[in-house]
Amino acid sequence: MEKFVVHGPCRLTGEVKISGAKNSAVAILPATLLVKGKCHLENVPNISDIRSYIEILESLGSKFEYISPNEFIIDNTNVNSAIASYELTSKFRASYYLLGALLGRFNEVQISLPGGCNLGARPIDQHIKAFEKLGATVEVKNGNVYAKKKDALKGAHIFLDVVSVGATMNAILAATLAEGTTIIENVAKEPHVVDLANFLNSLGANIKGAGTDTIKITGVKELKQVSCYSIIPDQIETGTFMVAAAATKGDVTITNCIPKHMEPITAKFREAGIEVYENGSSIRVKMDKRPNSFSIKTSPYPGFPTDMQPQMCILLAIANGTGIIVENIWESRFQYTDELVKMGADISAHGTTAIVKGVDKLYGSPVQSHDLRAGAAMIIAGLVCEGVTEVYNTHHILRGYENIVEKFNSLGANIEYVKDDTEGLAK
Ligand code: EPU
Repeated sequence: MEKFVVHGPCRLTGEVKISGAKNSAVAILPATLLVKGKCHLENVPNISDIRSYIEILESLGSKFEYISPNEFIIDNTNVNSAIASYELTSKFRASYYLLGALLGRFNEVQISLPGGCNLGARPIDQHIKAFEKLGATVEVKNGNVYAKKKDALKGAHIFLDVVSVGATMNAILAATLAEGTTIIENVAKEPHVVDLANFLNSLGANIKGAGTDTIKITGVKELKQVSCYSIIPDQIETGTFMVAAAATKGDVTITNCIPKHMEPITAKFREAGIEVYENGSSIRVKMDKRPNSFSIKTSPYPGFPTDMQPQMCILLAIANGTGIIVENIWESRFQYTDELVKMGADISAHGTTAIVKGVDKLYGSPVQSHDLRAGAAMIIAGLVCEGVTEVYNTHHILRGYENIVEKFNSLGANIEYVKDDTEGLAK
């Protein structure tokens, strides 16, 4: 069984460079399918979700020419299949972007229902509603999603019932080559939604309003890339290092990030008495005492991101006073709090609310990584606490953080990635 062994406590200092945004890249990679030719991408994070996506695209006929692990040219000239294998697509949620992208290019598409996760129910009814509004027929049967169109998709007025990142991006993908104009209302405004629109516009699409409540797409006949596209830096990786710096009473400069995207987090840091300095594309976080407690309510961008909720809980766990977290996006996102309690945290979580009473110290323990962000939070807890923390289920963390061990260790952490080959021998 693989694990991260974190030797705590430590104080993080120095400089760390942020990788490209996972949640942009998982939409931009399938978006390249709308081009019957080549696309050149850089600042692509080298993480397991992206390697899984590359495997799916290769199975459809895409060819990859690597300039580095983070920069490559994808040639989709010879993609001739719109049936993605169950084995590959069922592995991870973001495979749902294949639906919008392939439906833009082909008349019949089949993918498996996107893979499960530990955050609670993850319906795709709003994705399906958007495709149907554009004229497709969609059927969910035997664990697969089948989408068909007779002729070209037709522009439509789509009002999303809930603000959904995935449904917004999938509707954009499907509407880009549709005939006529599509208006999508009540959309998500996350930085990755804007990044996808910018990428498609750089290929000749006509998408306006990304980053606002309404997006207008005037369909174009074809897309073509003229210059290399660079994926934006990862907002959540940036926030994760911000929390780690503050929690370890460190002094860390985080480079290649977009401070504007960090505003909901920066505001909470200042409330907690943590020093944050923005300078162009870098952020310096400095702290020398326990944070003040604070409260957060997660909501769609520009509200407080749910994907930063578990990491912020580490700051509250060691804060002076009591803080409250209200989770408004995912129904099961507090499972990780049981792991923190094992480490000595004082947390009581029920339904959508967690009450966190700050304690003086946390203590090393074996803990599970319930999902990607909870796993990152466990590593930060390990950096803070006395003794050794073993973080299991590392695959969740490796899905979304590039070189996480190397990056933390370059700041003074002592983390080992251990593959235990003796597993089972003791039984
Ligand atoms: N929802 C519906 N119907 C839908 C789609 C969503 O009811 O058809 C609901 C969901 O159940 C949820 C809310 O709408 O309560 C928001 O879900 P959304 O669709 O925005 O989430 P997502 O697109 O599936 C993306 C990120 C998640 C992140 C959420 C919220 C990707 C690949 N994933 O998921 O990221 O938590 O947005 O910001 O972009 C992560 O990176 O760790 C992660 C889980």
